[in-house]
Amino acid sequence: MLREVTATRYVTPLREGGSLPGIVEADDLGTYVMKFTGAGQGRKTLVAEVLAGLLAQRLGLRVPELVRIRLDPVIGLSEPDEEVQDLLKASGGLNLGMDYLPGSLGLDPLAFTVDAAEAGRVVWFDALVGNVDRSWRNPNLLVWHGEMWLIDHGASLIWHHNWPSAPASRDKPYDASDHVLAPFAPDVAAAGAELAPLVTEELLAECAAAVPGEWLLDEPGFADPDELRAAYVRTLAARVPGLAERVVLGEPTRDGPSRAPGWLTGARPPRRRSDAGGRPECESGQERGVRR
Ligand SMILES: Nc1ncnc2c1ncn2[C@@H]1O[C@H](COP(=O)(O)OP(=O)(O)O)[C@@H](O)[C@H]1O
Ligand SMILES: [Mg+2]
Repeated sequence: MLREVTATRYVTPLREGGSLPGIVEADDLGTYVMKFTGAGQGRKTLVAEVLAGLLAQRLGLRVPELVRIRLDPVIGLSEPDEEVQDLLKASGGLNLGMDYLPGSLGLDPLAFTVDAAEAGRVVWFDALVGNVDRSWRNPNLLVWHGEMWLIDHGASLIWHHNWPSAPASRDKPYDASDHVLAPFAPDVAAAGAELAPLVTEELLAECAAAVPGEWLLDEPGFADPDELRAAYVRTLAARVPGLAERVVLGEPTRDGPSRAPGWLTGARPPRRRSDAGGRPECESGQERGVRR
């Protein structure tokens, strides 16, 4: 389902986010934002990018085209930055690319208005995939030619960092209080009524089939990539019924402490919140004070 291209030139790193993606040119003359298998966040963030990104596209949300990019690390030999050299050396083979949107700007909710229906669709989708990375501090939304585009789904499907926790993610609320689109009164109920019937097991299986098998190898407890794909489908499908009612839109927490995304930067699984009596344990609190 994903086209495959070969990187021909490493242009420049994108230092705005945390994962050091790079802009590359490819043999189809396209320009892509490339996410590297050798990055510290690991290949699971690339799995999430593909699965969630394709799902969003299939639900009618704008996500730039995703491609598989073959990388021969030799193209980085003249790269002066040691950090970039190391990344390229560690990422030979298949990586992820997203069509680069030239001249796009990060969405500023004070300068760009999103209607309640569209905001609802994005929040409902983020609740489905448990995206913890669409907060007002770090929207991961671009405006290009006057329209909103969704990028960076690496911090979704967080249960795949700890598979035994995945079944329990089914009923978890999604705290969208700090979601960048929360100020636009997202109509999550209407979005759920519209989108939930579209998220069939067939659709999820199509999206999972597009994840390269080599990123799904050697997962403890799973015999092969197809078994793992089936687990992604099962986990996401189980989350759909009643999802809109589990979206929490409370007061934004503008001055909360930074919470380092340890599960993204290291190999640790996501921590469970155990503060009984406080907010319900949520599939996602939007991370605060952290740019990724
Ligand atoms: N397809 C794209 N077109 C244009 N700019 C992009 C695109 N994807 C990412 N960027 C820019 O690169 C930055 C980092 O990319 P992102 O996917 O958010 O990676 P990270 O995981 O590092 O946060 C974004 O904040 C945005 O400014
Ligand atoms: Mg980002």
